[in-house]
Amino acid sequence: MTADSNRQSAIGNRQSPLAGRRIALGITGSIAAYKAADLASKLRQAGAEVEVVMTPAATQFITPLTLQSLTGRAVVVDMFAAAEAEAHVEVARRADAFVIAPATADCLANLAHGQTPDMVTLTALATTAPLLVAPAMDNQMWEHAATQANVETLRARGVAFVGPMEGRLATGRMGAGRVAETPQIIGALLALLGQRTGDLVGRHVVVSAGPTLEPIDPVRYVGNRSTGRMGFAIAEAARDRGARVTLVAGPVALETPWGITRVDVSTVAEMLAALQQATVACDALIMAAAPADFRPSKPADHKLKKGEGDEEMHVHLAKNPDILATLPAGGVRVGFAAETRNLGDYAKAKLPAKRLHFIVANDVSAAGSGFGTETNQVTIFHDDGRVEEFPLLSKYAVGHAILDRVVARL
Ligand code: CTP
Repeated sequence: MTADSNRQSAIGNRQSPLAGRRIALGITGSIAAYKAADLASKLRQAGAEVEVVMTPAATQFITPLTLQSLTGRAVVVDMFAAAEAEAHVEVARRADAFVIAPATADCLANLAHGQTPDMVTLTALATTAPLLVAPAMDNQMWEHAATQANVETLRARGVAFVGPMEGRLATGRMGAGRVAETPQIIGALLALLGQRTGDLVGRHVVVSAGPTLEPIDPVRYVGNRSTGRMGFAIAEAARDRGARVTLVAGPVALETPWGITRVDVSTVAEMLAALQQATVACDALIMAAAPADFRPSKPADHKLKKGEGDEEMHVHLAKNPDILATLPAGGVRVGFAAETRNLGDYAKAKLPAKRLHFIVANDVSAAGSGFGTETNQVTIFHDDGRVEEFPLLSKYAVGHAILDRVVARL
């Protein structure tokens, strides 16, 4: 194998999609430049090879030495510093993606007009790699017609944007102008890379996640221990393979991953309605949610009070609809079976009942598997009788294993 094909095979593995990717990071002169240190560090931790280029103005806010120490590579500021003729475009030639974070209004103006007064804009002009821009500036500069026109020009040219975010700005004012947070920038980068090379480009994948909470009265509910992590990890994995992803989520305490359309629901009735809409013409439906099988039949309008001498309280439960069994088609249909015993028998019985292509079964009482963990150990039962057992994997890697099988069925 050549050095390049060696590198290709090491790129973007199923545990870490940035492993071995060459990410050029451009930093321009905004107070938010200090946050680029965290981004460079997190990219490196994710396995990327990070090469930093900075404008002279950026060095007023953060030193090249900081970035050099974090990335283990020389940082280029002066385009005339290198002796070799081609040196100033080498970073551009090598990059798998170019991220400019933070990008000032001046940087956007130069990018829009193809001007190259510094190493950041020069690298943008000299690369064929996808470009992701995280703007940071005063909100009035962002909203100015000149900046908005530049953004429009860049978008039309295929440049991806992440942010700016709303919030408190360096000037003390509130508004849109904050640079996106590191996880959002990395999410946007993964989405961009997925759209270039993923095997789910042009596909719509619908994922459900989390529990449902069925009200007893305005303050109490019947619920379960699902945290939504498995479904969120599948949604991220699908995004990273280029899919358009809709995530229908029960009440969970998780941030929405960048680039994913999230629909929040609370009850089974709401989840069913949301999925009926989302699955029209979808390519795959992956039901990782844990919908409640029963709901209080008559939720009280007001908070229930305990009476004098009450030792017991009875709640009548009515059966909820089975969402999977109710939903028509939905492309490739994948279910989950969370069990604490007789895993295989229970899981296999759900395949025909819910019209599934395959079901992902896990023993939620086993160590490292099930609710709230970062890992899962699953067995996949297929409708044609095949059974596949997997080792303990991160939920993100389980997501990719599921999507490999979805892709094979599309
Ligand atoms: N499911 C569903 N609608 C429900 C309950 C479950 O669509 N009302 C889906 C789940 O999202 C999962 C699969 O069906 O993909 C199996 O869920 P599980 O709770 O394991 O099975 P149940 O069908 O509820 O059966 P039981 O509770 O008896 O195990």
